[in-house]
Amino acid sequence: MSSFDFTPLLAPGLPPPAAKWTGFAKYNFIGGHNDADQLPLDALIKAANAVLTREGRTLATYGLASGPQGYRRLREFLAQKLKRSAGIVCTADEILITSGSLQALDLVNGILLQRGDTVIVEQASYQGALTRLARLGVHAVGIPLDGEGMRMDALAAALDDLKRRAVRPKYIYTIPTVQNPTGTILSEARRRDMLRLAAAHGVPIFEDDCYADLIWDGKRPPALHAMSRNGGVIHIGSFSKSIAPALRVGYIVAEWNLLSRMLAIKTDAGSGALEQMVLGEFCPAHFDAHVPELTRGLRKKLETLMEALNEQFGTAAEFDDPKGGIFLWVKLPDQVDTLKLFQPALAAGVAINPGPEWSTDNGYGKSRTRLCFANASHEDIRQGVAALAEVCRREFGVPARIANVERVRA
Ligand SMILES: Cc1ncc(COP(=O)(O)O)c(C=O)c1O
Repeated sequence: MSSFDFTPLLAPGLPPPAAKWTGFAKYNFIGGHNDADQLPLDALIKAANAVLTREGRTLATYGLASGPQGYRRLREFLAQKLKRSAGIVCTADEILITSGSLQALDLVNGILLQRGDTVIVEQASYQGALTRLARLGVHAVGIPLDGEGMRMDALAAALDDLKRRAVRPKYIYTIPTVQNPTGTILSEARRRDMLRLAAAHGVPIFEDDCYADLIWDGKRPPALHAMSRNGGVIHIGSFSKSIAPALRVGYIVAEWNLLSRMLAIKTDAGSGALEQMVLGEFCPAHFDAHVPELTRGLRKKLETLMEALNEQFGTAAEFDDPKGGIFLWVKLPDQVDTLKLFQPALAAGVAINPGPEWSTDNGYGKSRTRLCFANASHEDIRQGVAALAEVCRREFGVPARIANVERVRA
């Protein structure tokens, strides 16, 4: 055991220390984990073998033989996939491969933001984006959503209000296609409105599209990046949700004048090469067949979750059927505080994401929770929701009826 004390040497302003990982909860509804059974493992193994046998010696150089933007075959696959599925016209040279799209968030923030800046986000949004903004000392203005995504009347009002106060937001961050956590898809008409408002106010759009492949009917509106006429959209995506999050492969689509600034602050000498090579080999042959199969399996799990919630919580759990993805955004009765539900639920083996961590507005988030349905088995989804209902009733008195059996509060 070392006795050297690093504490007085630590840089000021560090975030609180990370908690030690103690394993997954028995009923794991948190994070963005995917379905282990649906991982295309055999094809990934074959792809790894093939690409290493053919090109493995390029690992001797930083950046393989492709340079700092990432494995060229993967960027070429992305360029044609994004054209086909999202209407984005770009070349491999306008794509930067990152270590997950979290690094993409860091790079975009790194070239645009400074302490005291303001950005616009959806009122319910991705925790990883919100915590980054808080850490950077950037003010996030939350815009309410409805069933069609971010509300354009509210966006227009917020932009006007900021203009009156002489504040030019640095960007509008949106997850337009299967929004995290609400599961909504911004309609094409709203996309046009958002682009018009953004252009009128001289504000760029930061489009985070990592769930866009996981739509139940497979149909998506064109990306904001594709619809933009002024080049004011930075688009990011990821293979975490369509293939596997542990691979840590994401990407940024932007013009070279921006990518060149991001590359200058991407100080890791390249993102992990093996995973890029495997994806570059796997995707051209298998991506298009894998995704609808994965999506069908996810939809079945969502149905199990919605059924379990209806059975265990009855009218105490309100939710809209999401358009795709891996999350259900659930509203519990007002007296439930999901930040306070979190610990007792975990003690009963159920991990949930409390709503306030996914929102710019604590009041709105308080009685909401985000449940990921991708990772747990059907059986665990059923048992986990039953356990959650029991804890919620014990702590907050709701649901009063569980599985149609009336209970008296203990
Ligand atoms: C909206 C959104 N953006 C980005 C990410 C980061 O994902 P990754 O770094 O695994 O690509 C996530 C992960 O859940 C997300 O939900």
